[in-house]
Amino acid sequence: MADLAHTAAAMVAPGKGILAADESIATMSARLEKAGVAPTEENRRAYREMLITTPDLASGVSGVILCDETFRQAVSDGRTFPEAMAQRGLLPGIKVDTGAKPLAGAPGETVTEGLDGLRGRLAEYAALGARFAKWRAVISIGDGRPTRRKVRADAHALARYAMLCQEAGIVPIVEPEVLMEGTHGIARCAAVTSDVLQEVFAELDGAELDGIVLKPNMVVPGRDSGETATPDEVAQATVSTLRAVVEEKVAGIAFLSGGQSAAQATANLAAMQRLEAPWPLTFSFGRGLVDPALAAWRGDPERVADGQQALAHRVACNTAALTGTYTD
Ligand code: 13P
Repeated sequence: MADLAHTAAAMVAPGKGILAADESIATMSARLEKAGVAPTEENRRAYREMLITTPDLASGVSGVILCDETFRQAVSDGRTFPEAMAQRGLLPGIKVDTGAKPLAGAPGETVTEGLDGLRGRLAEYAALGARFAKWRAVISIGDGRPTRRKVRADAHALARYAMLCQEAGIVPIVEPEVLMEGTHGIARCAAVTSDVLQEVFAELDGAELDGIVLKPNMVVPGRDSGETATPDEVAQATVSTLRAVVEEKVAGIAFLSGGQSAAQATANLAAMQRLEAPWPLTFSFGRGLVDPALAAWRGDPERVADGQQALAHRVACNTAALTGTYTD
């Protein structure tokens, strides 16, 4: 258990965050196509190689989350991705859920699946070099949603996943994401986030909390609400929501960017550092880190350095946010 706490602390070490590059094959393919890149296995591999070989990435990134496909692929010199990452000082992470599927008895809602056979898969991932894992529950806000059934089902699955990870010596990232899509205001986002987190921590009773990293959404107004919130307002709403319901023993909080612009996610993260919280508050961004890199690379081997520069710039902005030196 000491090892779990040690790994979790390294994931949220001062001045560092996590890079989420674990898009499923379908999501990654769609993002490549949108950027004008053919959605082939080789291009998905080359894109992730570009990301993880960014010079000095480990100075601001503690670990990188990959999906199953990438975890088994190799970089150009023949080393597997987890091997190449470990040698660069990056902790290898693996997304282990199999996606959000329709939840019976809750029309229009989902539950994240992937528990069947998970013990065996985790043992295999650990042997391949995984030090931490991720499981994402997706909660949308709407008319009468989320329902109790949905919140309970996702919390239960997240906790079973987290316990299985800890049994395998792997740190679980526990990710209940309340989506931004919708017409709800910031107060409703806060209420749903609070409710979901309470259910998750009730289910996590008995887990080693210092060996868990929580990956929540920031508390923001719905995209179509017509409401706006300044970074200070988002930071206040987010930190006060978390402080009321998240156990202090949790190793750290690493936010997702959730479809906010890269600059907005960074500004919100910077504002949070000015508030009192019992845990490190850092980033575990996907789009907020990699969108500019994908746009700069565009699948062109000649533009690898441009893609890497774009990623390095976003990482530098976010580490500046952590240390209170970010200006946009
Ligand atoms: P975004 O930062 O793009 O929301 O992605 C983070 C993530 O890992 C979603 O599961």
